[in-house]
Amino acid sequence: MRIVVLVSGSGSNLQSVIDASQAGDLPVEIAAVGSDNPDAYGLVRAGTAGIETFSVPLERGADAEQRADWNSRLRDAVLSYDPEVLVSSGFMRIVSAEFLDTLRRADGRAVPMINTHPALLPSFPGAHAVRDALAHGVKVTGCTVHQVDSGVDTGPILAQTPVEVRAEDDEATLHERIKTAERTLLNQVLAQIARNEHGLR
Ligand code: GAR
Repeated sequence: MRIVVLVSGSGSNLQSVIDASQAGDLPVEIAAVGSDNPDAYGLVRAGTAGIETFSVPLERGADAEQRADWNSRLRDAVLSYDPEVLVSSGFMRIVSAEFLDTLRRADGRAVPMINTHPALLPSFPGAHAVRDALAHGVKVTGCTVHQVDSGVDTGPILAQTPVEVRAEDDEATLHERIKTAERTLLNQVLAQIARNEHGLR
């Protein structure tokens, strides 16, 4: 299954997909890794693994027209690699409904987009899920892989893993434990999608 992965930062979850696919443990070919951030370490990880990279930065303070233009350019960059699935893995931008509606291969087939999120959705959507869960005092949080729709972390849930919150946790320790669970979950869901177990292909 041919995929494109989008990242904004470290790309440690991306690394687990690279490792599993290169080890032959995951029936996935990463056609390219893209980012809104040309300095994302995830692009370095991809380059080191011999995977093509691209970046489509969004200007600071972009207005509605500039955002629409950014969405079109990002979509065109993704589609130029002809993926069957688009994976948002630590990609910290929201794409538009138009982006999703027009994310189609040359033969017209829709390209599903999935996202990995560090909380048990629908709890704690958004960019600060781990901090928000800690602030709320939950005793269990976790991670979710879901299909992306035009809302913020609202699309259909594909799989989740619970992670216990420990008394001594801060945001960094809890996020690291969540990411360990996330890496396994993301690879499991990709394998399931490759076998068409979620009806996305
Ligand atoms: C992951 O925990 C991912 O779920 C989260 O960013 C982290 C990226 O880590 N994404 C979001 O919070 C999206 N709302 P990584 O760059 O080391 O893979």
